[in-house]
Amino acid sequence: RPGAQRWVPEHADVAALASAVHDCRGCELWRPATQAVFSAGPADATVMLVGEQPGDHEDQEGEPFVGPAGRVLDDALREAGLDGAYLTNAVKHFRFTERGKRRLHRTPDVAHVRACLPWLTAELAVVRPRVVVALGAIAGRAVLGRPVRIGAERGQVLDAADGAEHRVVLTTHPSAVLRLRGTPDYAEAFAALVADLRLAARTGR
Ligand code: URA
Ligand code: SF4
Repeated sequence: RPGAQRWVPEHADVAALASAVHDCRGCELWRPATQAVFSAGPADATVMLVGEQPGDHEDQEGEPFVGPAGRVLDDALREAGLDGAYLTNAVKHFRFTERGKRRLHRTPDVAHVRACLPWLTAELAVVRPRVVVALGAIAGRAVLGRPVRIGAERGQVLDAADGAEHRVVLTTHPSAVLRLRGTPDYAEAFAALVADLRLAARTGR
């Protein structure tokens, strides 16, 4: 796998990156996907949220976090008082398996995260956030460059690797919270997500 680097334009702003990502062939995930999904939110945001990869809805609409997990995230952001964040994903194409008419999410491999990383690196260079919130373990690996355990490392402000200026907050992926809806564990999981986002909002100020 060659990785995305040769498709990432140098000295590009977010709009130019978002346009160039549609040509990326840095791994095989572009082929079955409908389109690449880049980011949403202002390029001068102090808080950057990084998800795993676009889901079924995002793949079809071309926007991050517009499906059911995105609604959980929006609710949590509102409750945390965190607005104006920049939203993106570690991997820009939807990975799935077809099951009849349904397209089921498949977790990206470490190789996909590595291949796609030049896009996130370019976004960090342009946006220069004060804090990056990694939503789930895949995003955490992309952001910190090492395996992470969300349960053990959430709720703290971490240093990024290699002397980067931003700090890092790890939290659960909103899809993991969504999966608990209708169970007794939902309220606690949602509240923990909100608490981590509040910590990020404070750190971004
Ligand atoms: N889950 C993600 O990680 N990202 C999205 O954009 C949507 C769902
Ligand atoms: Fe390029 Fe990332 Fe899409 Fe792979 S997932 S083709 S590296 S944009």
